[in-house]
Amino acid sequence: MKLKNVLIVYGSFLGSTKEISSRMKTTLENRNYIVDLKSADEKVPNLSRYDLIIIGSAIHGGLPHPAVLNFVKSNLDTLKKKRTAVFIVCMTIASTKADKKEAAMHYPHKVAAGFRPESTAVFAGTARDGGWFGNLVGELMLGVKPGDYRDWKKIESWTVSLVK
Ligand SMILES: Cc1cc2nc3c(=O)[nH]c(=O)nc-3n(C[C@H](O)[C@H](O)[C@H](O)COP(=O)(O)O)c2cc1C
Repeated sequence: MKLKNVLIVYGSFLGSTKEISSRMKTTLENRNYIVDLKSADEKVPNLSRYDLIIIGSAIHGGLPHPAVLNFVKSNLDTLKKKRTAVFIVCMTIASTKADKKEAAMHYPHKVAAGFRPESTAVFAGTARDGGWFGNLVGELMLGVKPGDYRDWKKIESWTVSLVK
């Protein structure tokens, strides 16, 4: 059966993951896929009608968005049977510190607990200006300076790779 109906479910604290999810929807719609975009705390009736479910989460304090974790927990049986993909939006993937960057590579496993996505990705998000003190702490502790680190080309090419 040809893949046609796609669901993108996202958990975003401050909006950058939501914008990435939105770009993914447009990218797929431009290729004639039918795409539903939902925040993880919205009700999604009848998951079984989707051929591919893409789950995206921002990270705060080392953890995925709680609504994403709830979505996974509540729909685990279906997710086990479906084609799935998971992406993460965080800052430490762009860190100058090797240990922080390496730790970020493991974030997808925190979402994909109990099911096996066919693809995972970790994208850099947006580090907001935290004032001089916040920025200094961010740079010293996390190895990240404020800025929008989203790489739209990378995001689009991963999205397209899912439907090839
Ligand atoms: C309070 C707070 C905590 C954060 N904790 C982490 C973290 O533990 N690891 C990380 O890589 N990024 C962390 N970040 C960076 C966010 O993941 C990044 O800003 C991302 O773009 C947020 O996505 P959102 O705008 O969809 O919420 C944190 C950001 C904030 C504001």
